[in-house]
Amino acid sequence: MAERDDHDSQRDDRRQFLKTAAVAAGAALCPWAAAGCGAKIPPGLFAAGTPGEFPLFTRPYRVQTTHVYVIHWEEGYAAISGECPHNGCPVEPVEGGGFACGCHGSTFAADGTVTNGPADRDLTWFEVLIADGELLIDPTVTVPKGTFYTG
Ligand code: FES
Repeated sequence: MAERDDHDSQRDDRRQFLKTAAVAAGAALCPWAAAGCGAKIPPGLFAAGTPGEFPLFTRPYRVQTTHVYVIHWEEGYAAISGECPHNGCPVEPVEGGGFACGCHGSTFAADGTVTNGPADRDLTWFEVLIADGELLIDPTVTVPKGTFYTG
């Protein structure tokens, strides 16, 4: 019986080790792990990457596994929600610019302006800033459409 207890104890230790390693790995890949990596709009300020990862371009960049897009135009950097205001489905960039929602067909211009319903409002813009060489996005702070970070 004592031998079996030692075996169980070792198995428990191994489980705890793997659990700790998984949490640590998750935290490295998902800085907003406290809210769950399933949170497609991170619950607070997060680092999207270095500005160099988002070169000047007409198409939006999806940030990691989120539903947040960075755009970098002549006007500067901006972040736009990738969640459809109709019912929260993810929107995807489309050829020629803009976004489309696969759930019920809403479409949006490249700046998030709704161009076809049933969505009845634009994609949300989030605050962006650059600090310590990182492009930071705060989804808890919305800004008017057309608000670009210029440094
Ligand atoms: S959730 Fe996007 S059109 Fe309905």
